[in-house]
Amino acid sequence: MRKPLIFGNWKMNLDMKQSDDLVRSLLGVKIDYRVVDVGVAPDFCSLASVVKTIKDMGVPISVAAQNMSAEEKGAYTGEVSADMILSTGADTVILGHSERRNLYGETDEVINLKVRQALRLKLNVILCVGELLEEREANVAVEKVLYQLSMGLNGVDTDGVQDVTLAYEPVWAIGTGKTATPADAQEMHAAIRGQLSKLYGPVIARKLRILYGGSVKPDNIGALMLREDVDGALVGGASLNAGDFVKLINFNN
Ligand code: PGA
Repeated sequence: MRKPLIFGNWKMNLDMKQSDDLVRSLLGVKIDYRVVDVGVAPDFCSLASVVKTIKDMGVPISVAAQNMSAEEKGAYTGEVSADMILSTGADTVILGHSERRNLYGETDEVINLKVRQALRLKLNVILCVGELLEEREANVAVEKVLYQLSMGLNGVDTDGVQDVTLAYEPVWAIGTGKTATPADAQEMHAAIRGQLSKLYGPVIARKLRILYGGSVKPDNIGALMLREDVDGALVGGASLNAGDFVKLINFNN
């Protein structure tokens, strides 16, 4: 059985104090961490502080960076390396988010270099894939997503892939209030798991978690999570509100 994972992606919305306050608001709330894994992805500047706050709270919340350089170190002004992320105490990095792909021109090749670099340094990866609206309308969504998946994992071996979580985020559903239907999400998640099975075998494919992302809210998470291959959610907007984030984490209650 795959344990559900609810991950908040705070994007460029909260400063250090706001990030700390939001994570602290989870203290004193009833969350059964034995049945659900929780993670947050603050901005780079807040990583160390959020890690410390979580440590002080004594709760098992994972902390992710939202991006990372593919380079190890050197003259790359403005970039942040895997080692630097690890030095904050963060354990995970989100790679291939559609905002990185579409607003900053990250290609599948660059994303693959980042994935391999993160895994080499033992940073867990959340690899995002997802089709554009015109690709869904042209009936090439599955093809596009499986291509991104294979490219993103190119050169990643059976050991490495065990530190990867997949996130299917249809681009047309991110921040738009439009969610894929649970059936659409399930269809894509099953296709992703099928491809993982081809690449790494059925045993590993069954173990890997596939999150859904794109306008996940307290009122739609239940139906999504009922689907066999939906193992959790990567949540932007709704994770910025403490009350909603807690409801998402406790989707099963
Ligand atoms: P959203 O963002 O929940 O605001 O749609 C999801 C994401 O981009 O990860």
